[in-house]
Amino acid sequence: MNDVEDVITIDGPAASGKSSVARRVAGELGIPFVSSGLLYRVAALLVEEGAGDPGDEREVMARLTGTVVRLLPSLQGDRLTVDGRDVTDGLHTDAIDASVSAVARHPRVRAWVTERLREIPGPFVIDGRDMGTTVFPGARAKFYLTAPPEVRARRRVGERAADLREVADAMRRRDRLDAAQSAPAPDALHIDTGDLTLDEVVSQVMDALSGVGAA
Ligand code: CDP
Ligand code: CDP
Repeated sequence: MNDVEDVITIDGPAASGKSSVARRVAGELGIPFVSSGLLYRVAALLVEEGAGDPGDEREVMARLTGTVVRLLPSLQGDRLTVDGRDVTDGLHTDAIDASVSAVARHPRVRAWVTERLREIPGPFVIDGRDMGTTVFPGARAKFYLTAPPEVRARRRVGERAADLREVADAMRRRDRLDAAQSAPAPDALHIDTGDLTLDEVVSQVMDALSGVGAA
């Protein structure tokens, strides 16, 4: 297992800025960035490809354990392969957004993802929902990003060229379904990114890291 002292966690809801901030912070520190959501998204993709039921835990697990899933951390953007096939570009679709929370609520799926993440050698910056609570409770530094729901919806519309109301509804639904694993770690530094630029968030994180000797 990786040394948790080498891990920096950045959790928060959809479009709070986790992955953009985590990637930039990792770049400044010269260490890899890992997006834990990709593993849940790949589980949803395998179910979708097999026209399976995301609500059936046994079926989701059968698909996951019947394939070799590799997460390849990279500053240019993590890649995800399934039996050597690069599936990364198909992981951020509306269909996966709509089914991923149903897959992510299964305890055995969560245990499978947690195990994969703990195998990754540190140091790295990792983003997700429960990185600072369940997966790396002993991490060196923890951040929890938030932003008002309407700001988050507007950000996602910018990325997906979609209708604002539909995106806001889908995001609210995902927030609700993800609530069980989304509580902030008690020792995480909260940053409301709503009125901040990406640069400002990154510099707040870097300042906090220099305070704990991690930057
Ligand atoms: O970037 P965004 O927050 O939209 O998505 P993501 O981080 O790729 O996560 C996709 C989904 O995976 C979330 O909606 C959760 O259902 C699940 N997830 C989770 O349960 N725990 C994590 N640590 C990361 C993601
Ligand atoms: O990973 P997560 O879903 O939390 O959010 P993201 O994909 O990193 O960010 C969503 C969008 O908001 C990206 O296009 C960012 O450039 C933008 N953004 C941000 O993340 N933080 C700000 N303070 C301002 C904009």
